[in-house]
Amino acid sequence: MLDAQKTIHLADYQPFTHLVERVELTFRLAPGATRVLAQLHLAPNPARPGRHPLRLDGEGLRLVACAVAGQAVAPALDDSGLTIAPEDLPEGPFLLETEVEIAPEANTALEGLYMSKGMYCTQCEAEGFRKITYYLDRPDVMSRFRVRIESDLPVLLSNGNPTANGQGWAEWDDPWPKPAYLFALVAGDLRAHSADFTTASGRKVALNIWVRPGDEDRCAYAMDSLIRSMRWDEEVYGREYDLDVFNIVAVDDFNMGAMENKGLNIFNSRYVLASPETATDDDYARIEAIIAHEYFHNWTGNRITCRDWFQLCLKEGLTVFRDHQFSGDMRSAAVRRIEEVVALRARQFREDAGPLAHPVRPESFVEINNFYTATVYEKGSEVIAMLKTLVGDQGYKRALDLYFDRHDGDAATIEDWLNVFEDATGRDLSQFKLWYSQAGTPRLQVAEDWQDGVYTLTFTQSTPPTPGQPEKAPRVIPINVGLLNPNGDEVVPTIMLEMTQERQSFRFQGLAARPVPSILRGFSAPVVLEREAPPEERAFLLAHDTDPFNKWEAGRALAKDVMAAMVLQDAPPSPAWLDAVAAVAFDGGLDPAFRALCLRLPAEDDMAQTIHAMGRIPDPARIHSARRAMAGALAIRLGEGLVQLCRDLDDGAEFSPSAEQAGRRALRLAALALLARRDGGKLAAEAFAGARSMTEEIGALAALLDVGQGAAELQVFADRWGGDANVMDKWFALQLALAEPGEAAELTERLTARADFDWKNPNRFRSVVGALAANHAGFHHLSGRGYRVVADWLLKLDPLNPQTAARVSTAFETWPRYDAARRKLAQAELERILAAPDLSGDLREMAGRMLA
Ligand code: ARG
Ligand code: ZN
Repeated sequence: MLDAQKTIHLADYQPFTHLVERVELTFRLAPGATRVLAQLHLAPNPARPGRHPLRLDGEGLRLVACAVAGQAVAPALDDSGLTIAPEDLPEGPFLLETEVEIAPEANTALEGLYMSKGMYCTQCEAEGFRKITYYLDRPDVMSRFRVRIESDLPVLLSNGNPTANGQGWAEWDDPWPKPAYLFALVAGDLRAHSADFTTASGRKVALNIWVRPGDEDRCAYAMDSLIRSMRWDEEVYGREYDLDVFNIVAVDDFNMGAMENKGLNIFNSRYVLASPETATDDDYARIEAIIAHEYFHNWTGNRITCRDWFQLCLKEGLTVFRDHQFSGDMRSAAVRRIEEVVALRARQFREDAGPLAHPVRPESFVEINNFYTATVYEKGSEVIAMLKTLVGDQGYKRALDLYFDRHDGDAATIEDWLNVFEDATGRDLSQFKLWYSQAGTPRLQVAEDWQDGVYTLTFTQSTPPTPGQPEKAPRVIPINVGLLNPNGDEVVPTIMLEMTQERQSFRFQGLAARPVPSILRGFSAPVVLEREAPPEERAFLLAHDTDPFNKWEAGRALAKDVMAAMVLQDAPPSPAWLDAVAAVAFDGGLDPAFRALCLRLPAEDDMAQTIHAMGRIPDPARIHSARRAMAGALAIRLGEGLVQLCRDLDDGAEFSPSAEQAGRRALRLAALALLARRDGGKLAAEAFAGARSMTEEIGALAALLDVGQGAAELQVFADRWGGDANVMDKWFALQLALAEPGEAAELTERLTARADFDWKNPNRFRSVVGALAANHAGFHHLSGRGYRVVADWLLKLDPLNPQTAARVSTAFETWPRYDAARRKLAQAELERILAAPDLSGDLREMAGRMLA
């Protein structure tokens, strides 16, 4: 296809010509030929005076019948919808009836109505509803939905409250007007794990988690997380649930993590099902966060939705921010913050530094599914965190109360959002708004001056060019700073410096000695702090900083300095770093989870990003060996203390997914992995054999594979878990994560030849092809085989599931950082993708942007 792709622009927004007052849908389910009958009660929109044709979105539908006000009409049909001429429409309100046929079993894109292991389910966000029936598929068109489902399957679910059911049918009524992207339907042979919840005002809600028979006993943690989320949203945001039932369904074939459909959340089963034997501590933490995230959308997303898809961060940034707050309250806030920042740098800073960089609120797109990004989600959340820092906790609370008050029932915009902050706090946010429109990660340079008892910090900000944005204006940056005196006591506790200029100085008076600054505490802004510091100062802050984030950050910066010197100057691992890490590792007064984080070395891709930002070309092979060498040196430095550490942390207590126990397991496994470098994996093999949880089982296996052992254990694992897809995904992904750079592509070819490589399942595809792409030195291997294997699989998946193919293709977004030979190889693969006949719009947009 050579036709130009259609670009949609924020500036072109117009309200729709018609309103939908009510929708009644009937589904006659059959795998190959489902009938959907729709009755739309329409009226002209007073906001669009004059007579207009009626344009409805629809894709892949077979229109069986169409009537306006009871009279059959013949609309004009095309690839993306139907149009009814103004002369065929009455002047006032009217009823439009359509009947279409669709084939859920043939739907491999997993968008619209599709089938997963014999059950029907839907995914409509962003524009999937148009694959179910002709409709005004845009978020500012909100309507009340009534749904009737006809099927012999025992469980028939839709949004809202159940109203009636009988043999072979069920009816649902959702009293809350909603956009079509929040529509959902599920039908299958499902079992419920149920509980009750009584809201603050005394309304009783039935809670159900629906799973395939046999999985009922893996729902307890998700249910517990749901109940804690409901309570937390009442206590912290004053938000109550608003229906009689709340249903969650777990499905195995799902493009994303989960979906917040009104009253009927649909989840990727890997983010619901958990038992100690099958789920790791990270899985538990993720389940808790995603259950909360989807639940919180009931207010931030559903009751208040987005006017158009450019406003996606309005619901996603805020809901991520809320789920971060929740996880911080449920677990160690310090540990969670560090993990958030690690993820932000790995995904969002990476995106911001490459050809896919875009603003938190993009101004144009071709395929909206390509904008469910780390920038919209994670940076969107960081922008809200900054707003809260700037206006204070009380200001934030007033603004949010006003937001819910003023916009309940609305399809709102970022302007509406910022207006409530201005109105609630009296602040002018026009400069702050740049965070929504300017892409790229600001760099913050710091200069210090100490004279006559006055200490001055001077900051300079700049943002590198990003696609379409060569110049950037200075932004508002809240910089949290504390000062320590040379013996390690805090002399100035955290204060917020509000930077608004390109260059700005802040003075501190009355200090007895030159202080050591702790800058950007809590990571108060999503910026790159460019501050060179001697290793002694970093070690000093790692030992003494009172801000837990910056304490960790000092160790991380030190580790990166060491790794950069090893890669770029052939330096040996520095003793200062080894001593500093040892001091933290053996400090029994510190939280084990925090110590585990300090033992984790910077990831190779992260290091490549850092070296690139230093103006050098990263060499993946050298980074890989340097990281190995660092781990080896650390294992020697920590010595026998590691054995003791492993013993002390193994208290034999009964398993609990608590953050406290998880932290102890994380530290023990970090020690075990280092020990494997000394004993060739002897203790790790014992730990694998005696594992009492999946965390230990997979952790011990990782320690073995990392030192070239573990072949027998891999087989044991596969024999034990072959019947469990979610567990086997870990088996696939782990091997690729730890494969030698020169063997990763070949291993992928071996694994993809297996009968259980079900490549049409997105989780399995990601755990193999995605895992190869995430093996930094393997994907970027100079042979070019990593690039080629990934590109081959993207081309194979694209015709079936363009959304997942486009998402995995972001593996290539970093190509401009590397040397000419690698750039040439990667570009050639992107060009090969772009030249493929019948490429999807999704993948074409991505490959095109990466090559631009
Ligand atoms: N709104 C969902 C969430 O954040 C994500 C769904 C996106 N799906 C998609 N196909 N783009 O939880
Ligand atoms: Zn979301």
